Amino acid sequence: VMGKKVAVLGAAGGIGQPLSLLLKLSPNVSELSCYDIVGTPGVAADLSHIPTASSVTGNLPAAGSWPPSHNTGIEAALTGASVVVIPAGVPRKPGMTRDDLFNTNAGIVKGLVEACADFCPDAVLAIISNPVNSTVPIAAEVLKKKGVYNPKKLCGVTTLDVCRANTFVAASMGKDPKDVNVTVIGGHAGITILPLFSQVPGFSPSDEDREALTVRTQFGGDEVVKAKAGAGSATLSMAYAGYLFTEEVLRAMNGADDVVQCAFVESSLTDAPFFSSPCKFGPDGVTEVMGFGEISAYEQKWMDQMLPDLKKQIQKGIDFANQ
Ligand code: APR
Repeated sequence: VMGKKVAVLGAAGGIGQPLSLLLKLSPNVSELSCYDIVGTPGVAADLSHIPTASSVTGNLPAAGSWPPSHNTGIEAALTGASVVVIPAGVPRKPGMTRDDLFNTNAGIVKGLVEACADFCPDAVLAIISNPVNSTVPIAAEVLKKKGVYNPKKLCGVTTLDVCRANTFVAASMGKDPKDVNVTVIGGHAGITILPLFSQVPGFSPSDEDREALTVRTQFGGDEVVKAKAGAGSATLSMAYAGYLFTEEVLRAMNGADDVVQCAFVESSLTDAPFFSSPCKFGPDGVTEVMGFGEISAYEQKWMDQMLPDLKKQIQKGIDFANQ
């Protein structure tokens, strides 16, 4: 009854398809709008046979949307959307960092966010396209230029880092992952990712284990890139994480008052202008960027290493948008 329109931009991709599938199953979604430069009519027709209450459309930039009676193009895809999830772009190959994707993905994100500013300026934007540390600042600059920037409604999705940390810690503690919730702060690439294991109740790893778990969380994406051997980066776990994030945003929009999750947002917690930390969500997006509490000396050492790197990646995005 309280369902919202959710648009997925890049919906035919490795992340976009399983993400769209999960969102088709969500009771919080009334209309699922799949947009991509290719393939969305097929994705939408396929998903439309799943007997959940939501409707599905498959949108292309020009002619050929699905269903055929539906208006085509990005305007129709975005108009009325409450949440727009953006996994459009190119994925990593072995040996590439997320930053290597910058040149291609920066332009894609810029164009898509311009369209969001025009056709759904009130939507919450959830950016998945990497490098998130730079694409979120690009989105902010684009929205500012269009005069519709609302910092409460622009998030980079860092939920996969939380998922990975929870999985790895649960395995190390012999616990069910659903009973573990690690706070992960910073950015979404390599050493800019900082899991706060010192805050996990009952968890006291050896120095060696703590180091291994920290580095594994930071570079977990590389395990997948390597195993996929040239076929791309994390898609299924990223789709799950993007779905979890979107569900929580929708739950908060529908009135739940207990929604707290990590998100990469405009922040004054550190001298990095964007930073991921626990955030409270409400009907209009982020209602409070919460602090991340006490951190250990070990974590502080990582933080000191992280901030110059993160600030550089943020500035790179800002410069791109203003060039
Ligand atoms: N508008 C809409 N969709 C686009 C555009 C665009 N301008 N440009 C590319 N796409 C679509 C592609 O057509 C493709 O379907 O984005 C999709 C990307 O899918 P994949 O190539 O399979 O990549 P994926 O593994 O899903 O990763 C996408 O998310 O996590 C990040 O690092 C990852 O930046 C990468 C992105």
